[in-house]
Amino acid sequence: MRVLTGIQSSGALHIGNYFGAIKQMVELQENSDLFIFIANYHSLTSLKDATAVRQNTIDAAITYLSLGIDPNKVTMWAQSDVKEVLELYWILSGYTPMGLLERAHSYKDKVAKGINANHALFSYPVLMAADILLYDANIVPVGKDQIQHVEITRDIAIKFNNEHGDIFTLPKFKTDDTTSTVPGIDGQKMSKSYGNTIDIFNSKKSLKKQVNKIVTDSATLEEPKEFDGCNVYNLCKLFLDEDGEKELQDRYTKGGEGHGHFKMHLVDLITTHFNEANEKREYYLNNTNEVLEILDDGAKKAKTIAEEKMKKIREVVGIYR
Ligand code: ADP
Ligand code: TRP
Repeated sequence: MRVLTGIQSSGALHIGNYFGAIKQMVELQENSDLFIFIANYHSLTSLKDATAVRQNTIDAAITYLSLGIDPNKVTMWAQSDVKEVLELYWILSGYTPMGLLERAHSYKDKVAKGINANHALFSYPVLMAADILLYDANIVPVGKDQIQHVEITRDIAIKFNNEHGDIFTLPKFKTDDTTSTVPGIDGQKMSKSYGNTIDIFNSKKSLKKQVNKIVTDSATLEEPKEFDGCNVYNLCKLFLDEDGEKELQDRYTKGGEGHGHFKMHLVDLITTHFNEANEKREYYLNNTNEVLEILDDGAKKAKTIAEEKMKKIREVVGIYR
């Protein structure tokens, strides 16, 4: 069972990203043939600063390695290291009706927000289809906003297979329904675009600053407090087992402690949880050559599969070698 996913290489990650996406990947590496690539060609749709594009690619690799992706269990590479994906992108474009792309929500949303659309943004789902079909992925874990892109991939694959026989495996998307939405410091969904995040890689000082901004009710120190619906409690819960939850609930209902105490508890929980990840990140930031080696190894493996697959594809479409 091949599981494949592409990660966007943009910006700092928050604990919503961790519990909503990365944690699942770390679990998936234990019992599936997991392929993860850094979608740096995709980032060119919006990012024009070469240094940032380059830096984001390495940063994304460092982030995932630090958070527990094990290069001995996972094939991890940078998308641009396997150029075959661009050849397939072009070939698949000939099997992609305009209407299919015109209906894509993600494209339509961006246009509605006033983003100046370029062709890459429009044809983005075709490159994503190439990413998936080139490696015969069975399962594609994605966030909910990407489901339609996997469906477009299936439509393109079906069109191609109808013409040329069973060349492509039809992928299925997988979203994680077990994780509920992680709230931000204002209680809304935590999201980069709402400016309400708590970041994973953080100095203690800035972590405290973010946590201190969490909105709470105005109960006095002595009063018993409601844990249900409390933003601080909901965030603490992510890091606690059943006993830990029970203990914290008791502290809330007993009274005698203010929200400041619970916030400090949250700071401790976050620090402990990501302590190893922070240390690993420091290490990789100082040893980027090791990161590049990991990406090289992954690219070699991915390329072998891609070359094999492209031979078949070229043959059926009539590209002579
Ligand atoms: P953002 O909203 O900050 O831009 P993205 O859209 O880049 O985050 O999300 C990347 C991944 O993290 C997706 O798989 C998404 O489902 C997950 N994710 C993002 N925010 C949350 C959250 N608050 N709770 C749970 N999962 C989240
Ligand atoms: N579009 C995805 C996102 O924004 C990233 C991505 C690119 C991807 N290619 C992919 C995800 C292939 C899964 C499979 O998150």
